[in-house]
Amino acid sequence: MHVGEDNMVKEKSNSYWIASTKETNYPKLSEDLSVDVAIIGGGMVGISCAYYLKNEGFKVAVIEAKRIAEGVTGNTTAKITAQHHLIYDSLIRKFGEEIAQQYASANIWAIEEIAKIIEQNNIDCDFIRQPAYIYTQSEDYIKQIEDEVKAAQKLGIKASFDTSLSLPFPIKGAVRFDHQAQFHPRKYLLPLAEKIPGEGSFIFENTRMKNIEGENPYTVITDSGKITATYVIIASHFPVYDHFGFYFARMYESRTYALAMKIKEKFPGGMYLSAESPSRSLRSQPYEDGELVLLVGEEHKTGQHKEAAEHYRKLQEFAHEHYNVETILYHWSTQDCMPIDDIPYIGRITSTAANMYVATGFKKWGMTHSIIGAALIRDQIMNRQNPWEEVYDPSRFTPLQSIKKFFEINADVAKELISGKLEIPEDTLRDLKEEEGSAIEIEGRRIGAYKDDKDEIHLVDPTCSHMGCELKWNDAEKTWDCPCHGSRFTYTGEVIEGPAVNSLKRIKLGE
Ligand code: FES
Repeated sequence: MHVGEDNMVKEKSNSYWIASTKETNYPKLSEDLSVDVAIIGGGMVGISCAYYLKNEGFKVAVIEAKRIAEGVTGNTTAKITAQHHLIYDSLIRKFGEEIAQQYASANIWAIEEIAKIIEQNNIDCDFIRQPAYIYTQSEDYIKQIEDEVKAAQKLGIKASFDTSLSLPFPIKGAVRFDHQAQFHPRKYLLPLAEKIPGEGSFIFENTRMKNIEGENPYTVITDSGKITATYVIIASHFPVYDHFGFYFARMYESRTYALAMKIKEKFPGGMYLSAESPSRSLRSQPYEDGELVLLVGEEHKTGQHKEAAEHYRKLQEFAHEHYNVETILYHWSTQDCMPIDDIPYIGRITSTAANMYVATGFKKWGMTHSIIGAALIRDQIMNRQNPWEEVYDPSRFTPLQSIKKFFEINADVAKELISGKLEIPEDTLRDLKEEEGSAIEIEGRRIGAYKDDKDEIHLVDPTCSHMGCELKWNDAEKTWDCPCHGSRFTYTGEVIEGPAVNSLKRIKLGE
């Protein structure tokens, strides 16, 4: 075991994608301005939208609350694939062949579109064609895998059934998709972002959207100025502006954990994902003169598992069980929006909001869906026909497919709202150890406390600034996470991820 690996989960997570690329340094918005399109969020969707729209002659402004390409884009597994777990047989059964066909065609197109953008812009981003596999070690999944192969073939995907993969454990069967790909997401996105500023277009970092007012044009209010725009695109992962689209009631947030390790053996190539849970995803990545192996899994609903560090430990165990691990160099976690009917929401934010758009709910498959989202929104702004409008329409209503999940998600939210308020923690300030956080009791109140490595105590009101759920401490990331809709806050209370846009109230002892 690598020296220090025992302490790995206590250290701050570090994404390989972020660590291996330069930090960006775009300015903060400092004066009011006017553009054609304001884009809220500087991840894969936001930058892709800006890239397409600037090429069409629009003046755009990307507004990012922190640094671009550091949120979900900086923490993804970066698989560019139309293989989204076992989905096609289910899509055909739930929505019919036409809708499933739109989904498949869009994602196959997206792989080639990303390849085209890379070639046109001469981007060096470790783009490699790979087959993708969903494998199972259990007889129980064989029928589902066989059905998936047939469904995918029916929709025009090059799919096949495989029984022998070069994995270090036996499998019962797998579905293989050919001509998929992988890349380094920041090496891809940062050069594209460099093309945005200039000729009336901008990227602003450290600029947080606070509200949107008016219509035709919209005024985007940020913490450092206002931007007036005819069109607004909400590209902030979980929509930080909802416009009565009730996205918080139609999605939940799921966290996943990743390790990047050096192993003694040569990785056989390919991208792998288990059919069964807890999921295990594997791919390699060129690294210096060798390679890293990325192991990802252990997903769970945000804010609903007490010890996030335990998930890293389980991945470590899996790695050591199956590989000769030399060292684990990076570990990080990410968060994904899970829509209730398994299909992302891309298009007009509501059926009545003519010039406001959203792209969210990518359900862990953000690389292809980001580019699909950007192209679809570009086409809608330009009044062009897009072949995938129907499948991704955010205003679709799919009662049979969604109602059970809708009630599950919102019953969970109601439970968290009520039980969180009733819960008076047993711990007090005295129980807190160094680098430990917890909800504690002070004078009958529930207070969020974290003791840092210099023994300084940071106290916040652990009530989510979005809709008031009680936050849970995340021991692996040292954050306050919301079990209701997935907002996350630093231990000093600043927003890391929305839908919340306001910081937590800081508490001073004696207040
Ligand atoms: Fe909605 Fe916290 S994210 S209540």
